[in-house]
Amino acid sequence: MKKTLALILAACMSLSLVACGGGGSGSGSAPNSGSQGGGASQSADQSGGGEGKTVGIAMPTQSLERWNRDGDYLDKQFQAAGYKTIVTYSDDKSEQQVNDIQNMLAQGVDLLVIAAIDGNSLNTVMNDAGAAGIPVIAYDRLIMNDNVSYYVSFDNFTVGVLQGTYVKDALDLDNAAGPFNIEFTAGDPADNNAPFFYNGAISILQPYIDNGKLNVVSGQTAFDVVGTAGWKTENALNRAQNVLASFYADGTKLDAWLCSNDSTSLGVAQAITSDYAGGNPVIITGQDGDVANLRNIKDGVQSMTVYKAVANEAVVTLDLAKAILDGKTADASLISASGWSFECAYDTDSYETTPGHKCPSFLLVPDVVTADNMEEKLVTPGYYKVGADGYLEATNG
Ligand code: BGC
Repeated sequence: MKKTLALILAACMSLSLVACGGGGSGSGSAPNSGSQGGGASQSADQSGGGEGKTVGIAMPTQSLERWNRDGDYLDKQFQAAGYKTIVTYSDDKSEQQVNDIQNMLAQGVDLLVIAAIDGNSLNTVMNDAGAAGIPVIAYDRLIMNDNVSYYVSFDNFTVGVLQGTYVKDALDLDNAAGPFNIEFTAGDPADNNAPFFYNGAISILQPYIDNGKLNVVSGQTAFDVVGTAGWKTENALNRAQNVLASFYADGTKLDAWLCSNDSTSLGVAQAITSDYAGGNPVIITGQDGDVANLRNIKDGVQSMTVYKAVANEAVVTLDLAKAILDGKTADASLISASGWSFECAYDTDSYETTPGHKCPSFLLVPDVVTADNMEEKLVTPGYYKVGADGYLEATNG
């Protein structure tokens, strides 16, 4: 199934844009039965109803694992609800994403679901969508334009809080004598989520930096300095190698490296494995539960990841899209009416598309995954299965 999907996606990409979704059957079959992993909750309304409507789904890239999962879940769930879908991945190139979305508008989509590459670079095409009356759901990453109708994501600040709290507890910062040495790696400055993650982590750890219990040996804490362009593993690796060479080559002990997500965590872990002179295990955080990182967690190379059930993010997106397209109220009542088996908050305060312009948001709840609870959190609900080698692999593999 994954191969088939990959082929379809490859075909779509090579044509830049193709209507990938058959949809239209209105079968209402459970979107997550079979290959999609049993863990996802289902849309509240399984009756289909999307006949004749087309939804454009613009994902950033296939090179980071999670967006393949997102695109896959969204595509399958919208189709199962009877919608036609157009799915694009834009190779992490913002201009390409603009073109892809413009093509979707030209093809007459009824609604757009967009995970932006750069939340500040979609103004023209968002204005076009607004002028055409096409609703836009900013998916996972906010777009800084007031034509965005709704935002569906996880509580991004809490992701960072969970990472910071993990470090705080693992080092027992309230009781241990310390001081402990720490470094930071944040996400892509073009991604509106990245400062939320970083600020969430810093909100927990700053008091310990201030009281001297935590020491940032490099002195590098400014978001712009610790950020990672494109969230790329390679960029995180390069900076980590530089930091290790400049500040730790003399045998200085490194206790923890707070990384905002798994792709950056992979680079930092690689640098520590190859370039860190000390022999102690270093606490490393992450986010997403990517397969390579789950391996690292099992092997003790990475300490934790913040898991976000993107299958549920897709369910919220679908039910919200249905409400919008059916002209129904889309506010907190959507949650009470939904019957979702997971938590989600309706938040009209935390996110702004432009200063002062609040964006109504549906925010799901992230969770901490470690070696100890990996099977309970990821295998039991059906998101992953244990492979023959004992490591977790995707259930749609
Ligand atoms: C997502 C994270 C992801 C990162 C890189 C963020 O916007 O929320 O889950 O790790 O992008 O893809």
